[in-house]
Amino acid sequence: MTGENSIHAKKTPLPESSINPKDLKGFIGRSDDLEHICRKLMGLEQGEVLTIKGAGGIGKTHIVKKIAVAVAERGLFSGGIHFIDCEPITDSRLFLFKAAAVFGLEHAEEDIWQHLRDHHDGQERLIIFDNFETLLYLNEQEEIKAILSKIADYAKVLVTCRELLKIEGKVDYQMRQLTTDEAETLFLSKVTWATKQEKELLRQEILDPLLNNNPLAITLITSDLPKGRALLWEFFISNSRFFLCCVAGTIPGIGPQIWVFQTIF
Ligand SMILES: Nc1ncnc2c1ncn2[C@@H]1O[C@H](COP(=O)(O)OP(=O)(O)OP(=O)(O)O)[C@@H](O)[C@H]1O
Ligand SMILES: [Mg+2]
Repeated sequence: MTGENSIHAKKTPLPESSINPKDLKGFIGRSDDLEHICRKLMGLEQGEVLTIKGAGGIGKTHIVKKIAVAVAERGLFSGGIHFIDCEPITDSRLFLFKAAAVFGLEHAEEDIWQHLRDHHDGQERLIIFDNFETLLYLNEQEEIKAILSKIADYAKVLVTCRELLKIEGKVDYQMRQLTTDEAETLFLSKVTWATKQEKELLRQEILDPLLNNNPLAITLITSDLPKGRALLWEFFISNSRFFLCCVAGTIPGIGPQIWVFQTIF
């Protein structure tokens, strides 16, 4: 028996279809966010919901997955780590069904709250609800929020949302914009061939001024950047193959957004 085996034995399994540690290998920066979110998560009282709030593409899903991996490696949440994407959920029944499945009660005949009150196994569970903002446009949003609050009596609940979640017992964490150093590291992890001059242009004209250091914008742009151009700047401004338009604005109820429209001519 090696020490390594005993460490592996203690890990909490991750939901394979939604969280793959390999996808998070290129995670950049945000050590302060990771520390603060973990502390808030572990300090949640019964009935409290932790909401990670931030603009589209800022990195909410990425960071909660990173946290899930970190707590799984430490063997926390022996009752399981669960990831629920809220985007396909269309009503409160489906929401309740998905939440009940975490406790193995999706097909329970009786009232699941009654069942949990009487038979909860007392095991620690983590439930991540991703893209919760999509539920805030449904007619049944109040019922859904009530279910969310009730679930938090039986599990630690972590939510990602573009908007402020108006429910009782919530703890908020506002995601900050990446620093220019972090944004540059992310950009250069994908565009390793950039010249010194291009790196300067990135910092001065592109990352913060044009892209708000937004990781989604950086990911989209670098995925199509042809290798070997003389200057990145020239590419962004006058290349005839792509047209890049970033509009930083505010959409009521959604918050600051970055829209990146990329068109192949
Ligand atoms: N710290 C990071 N290091 C490396 N890549 C990152 C980081 N944060 C985000 N990304 C990348 O940026 C992209 C957008 O991140 P993510 O999907 O987490 O944003 P989001 O805030 O959840 O967006 P949305 O509101 O649309 O759900 C992803 O491709 C992700 O891999
Ligand atoms: Mg997301």
